[in-house]
Parts: sequence; structure tokens; C-alpha cells
Amino acid sequence: MNFRYMQNCPIVFGPGAIDHLGEYVSELGKIRKAFCVFDKGVEAAGIPARAVASLEKAGITCACYNGVQADPTIGIVDEAGAQALAFGAEAIIGIGGGSSMDAAKAVSILMTYPGPVKKYVLAKPITMDTKVPVVLVPTTSGTGAEATRVAVISQTETGGKWSVFVNTSLAVVDPELSMGMPASVTAYTGLDALSHAAECVTDNISHPHNQLLACAAIEKIMKNLYTAWKEPNNVEARTEMSLAADWAGIAFGETMCHVGHALADGLSINLHTPHGYNCAMALPVALEYAAPAVPAEIRMVAEAMGIALSGSETAEELGALCAKEVWNLMRKLEVPSLKASGYTREQVLKAAEEGYSSHLSTYCPVPVTREAAERLAARMYDAYQ
Ligand SMILES: [Fe+2]
Repeated sequence: MNFRYMQNCPIVFGPGAIDHLGEYVSELGKIRKAFCVFDKGVEAAGIPARAVASLEKAGITCACYNGVQADPTIGIVDEAGAQALAFGAEAIIGIGGGSSMDAAKAVSILMTYPGPVKKYVLAKPITMDTKVPVVLVPTTSGTGAEATRVAVISQTETGGKWSVFVNTSLAVVDPELSMGMPASVTAYTGLDALSHAAECVTDNISHPHNQLLACAAIEKIMKNLYTAWKEPNNVEARTEMSLAADWAGIAFGETMCHVGHALADGLSINLHTPHGYNCAMALPVALEYAAPAVPAEIRMVAEAMGIALSGSETAEELGALCAKEVWNLMRKLEVPSLKASGYTREQVLKAAEEGYSSHLSTYCPVPVTREAAERLAARMYDAYQ
């Protein structure tokens, strides 16, 4: 089997790293103007101010865009891109969760290529050879977007989530930034990271390098997510979760997520629930579904989760055990079911369309038919209460 492994860009990791952002950006070349992209929540937490202070200390002038919203739209990217162009940005800095980092990546396209950005964000993603450095500073420990080159952008007309690949230059991962997350965000982003890791081990292009990183990430998440949720200022648990999310990001950036993330996008399009929540709903059923085709890989996931195994389990049994383990963790993290969140079975079944038609499902080792996607959507609703 031939496979590709890579790390997208250098990553600086450690508590307090954000206060050295200016030094790290200066190492990328002669950068005089940086354009920072974030949302109002991160702004209220004072994180961009620390980033700007460090950049200005290094002699870099900054302009800021604080209008990112969850599941950023092409309109947001065009608006931020116009401001960055007018400013003459020589670097784009994305500060926040996946939405802000993805928006920053997409903004970088408009520094080199004429807009609007919808020309480049497509259902089947293409790679744009972007020239302006992109620096990513995650403030959650979940999306791993700092470690991937993909930007997921919502199409306002269709509600679909399409994507594009860009060049990224540097990630600065400071676990202290995640300490301000509310408990539910800690749970959802951590379960998103778990989904990246477990789905990319069980996809149809999984290989030894992404498995190494993803299984290490799964182990860290199973050991530390509950502590990070229960004790938000526990530096050790936050550090382990930040590392895990980053490694899971590298791992799925090398390969792909599959029907779990496809169904999660279906929930996002129809219910507008948070991405990490949707991933949590979809991961157990995705693992059950994929397991028969990837017996060795599902065993790796089960072992990384710390499940006691006899060694004689079938792939189907391992899939069921992994699903049960994720549901148990979700209960401990007080993640409400779809029903308890007020959604009807019919509403949830609408997620099947994206589960079936998303390009992500082509990476599932068991083909995803329309009927299968409907069964999986129903199981998301019925099996976790
Ligand atoms: Fe995700």
C-alpha cells in the first residue's frame, strides 16, 4: 500500500505561546502588516488583544475583523477579505475555534485571487496555491483546524458546507487559551477531536502514520476530556486535550473523516446544532457501520479507548463496544440526546441526505447507500437517550 504522510506546517506548542506570537510570525519573513480574524466571543475573552500586543511588540501593524460566526458563510469571508485587501495584509492570523481558523484560511485566497470566494469553495474541494502566510491560533481543543489545510465554508444559498484547500504557514497552540471554554464547549469540541481520530483510523485510506497519531489522540481524550470538563482550569488536562486535538487534526488532515462527519454536517445543515455535538451523535453509529470492513483498525480504536478486550471479539462486536464507550463518555459529559434537545425523529432523518451525498461518505469503508444513511440517521436518534 502506498500512502502519504505529512505535517502541514510547523506547530509551536505550549502554555503562554500566544505571548510570543509576534516573534514566531517575524520568523516567517518580512511581515509588516497582519490581519487578525476572530469572533466576538474570543474578543470578549481578551485573546486577540494578547495576540495583537505580541505582534505590535515585534513591529507588526495589525487590523482586526471580529465578525466571524459559527459555520462561517462565503459572505463573511468576502467581507473580511475586502477589509484585508484594503489594509494591505501581508499575513492572515486566524484566532479562535474552527470557524475563525477556516475563515482566515479562506480569506487568504482573496489576497492572491480575485473574489468572490464562492468561485473557489466547491462541493469537491480544490487546492488553491495561496501566497500570503496564514497563521492559526486555536482557542478550543477540538477542531484541529490549525493542523489542516482545509477550510469549510457554508453556502448561504444551499445551506451546504463546501470546502477548499489552502497553504498554511504556522500554528501556535497555547493550551491556556482553552481554559475559558464553557463546559458544554469543552465537551463538544473534545468529542469532535475524538471523532476526527476514530473516523480517520477507520476510513478507507487509513495508514500507519495517521493511525499512530490518531490512536495516541484517542487515548489522551479518553483519559483527559472528563477532567478538562469537570476541572476547567486543570492545566495538565487542558494541555493533554490540546495536544490530542492537534494530533487528531494532523491525522485526519492526512486522510479523511467519513460517514460520521457526513451525518454531522447533515445535522448542522438541518438543525444548526454545534459541530462537535453533531459529531458526538454520529460517531458511535459511524463506528458500528464501518467496523465489519476494518477489523484491525476498529480493534486499534477499541484498544486506544482503553476497553478491556479478550482478543476474540469480532469486528462487529468491537464496533458495538466502541459505540457504547462513546455513549458512556457522552453521558458523563451530560451531552443531551437529540430527543432531549427537542428535535423530532423526522427532523433528524433529514440529515440522511448529506450523510448519503457528502464526498466524505466515499471514504467510509462500507459503501453508504441512501437506505443506509437513513438507517444511520434513525439510529442517531434512537440509540442514544
Ligand atoms: Fe470535525
